[in-house]
Amino acid sequence: MTGRLVVLASGTGTNLQAIMDACSTNVLAADVVAVISNNGDARALQRARDAGIEAVCLEKEQGELRRDYDTRLAACVAQYVPDYVVLAGWMLLLSANFLDHVGSPVINLHPALPGELPGVNSIERAHAEAVLGERVRSGAMVHFVPDEGVDTGPVIASVEIAVSAQDSLEEFTKRVHEAEHKLLVDALIQLCN
Ligand code: GRF
Repeated sequence: MTGRLVVLASGTGTNLQAIMDACSTNVLAADVVAVISNNGDARALQRARDAGIEAVCLEKEQGELRRDYDTRLAACVAQYVPDYVVLAGWMLLLSANFLDHVGSPVINLHPALPGELPGVNSIERAHAEAVLGERVRSGAMVHFVPDEGVDTGPVIASVEIAVSAQDSLEEFTKRVHEAEHKLLVDALIQLCN
């Protein structure tokens, strides 16, 4: 049996690409059945179209309440009956309205170690701390999203990544992104294969 994945992505979609590549080479026994973005300009949507995968733009309307958007989003995701919903660079917080109605486990990728640097700009903040001599390692993790907690939940996989004051932000960012691509695919292999 092959796992059905719905990927939610707001931006560039390099993690989505890593998942799609792993599926198409049978490294990962899964299919991405839809990619949904809150951002019509997201490169992730184009990557999906290029791969022949359904690409759905579901933007939050002006003045729309977060809980109403989340209900719409959950209904949109649920129609694909996924085994897992993967947040890969999804930049909106998801409320209980989404989590309670989506009907499938949700997993998230966070570019820092469990319990560290929740929220946005985690890579930049880790680097800034390293420059101040306050940090020598950061990391990345994949975890279940059981509730509204930001970047918290049972950890599926994590990896440590060294960071030093000598690293440029660009070098460190590249290292984190490469580690994330592998970690996310490994976590999905663990779940699906
Ligand atoms: C990743 O670093 C992810 O952890 C963070 O946003 C980035 C998304 O990158 N939340 P991409 O869109 O998959 O290229």
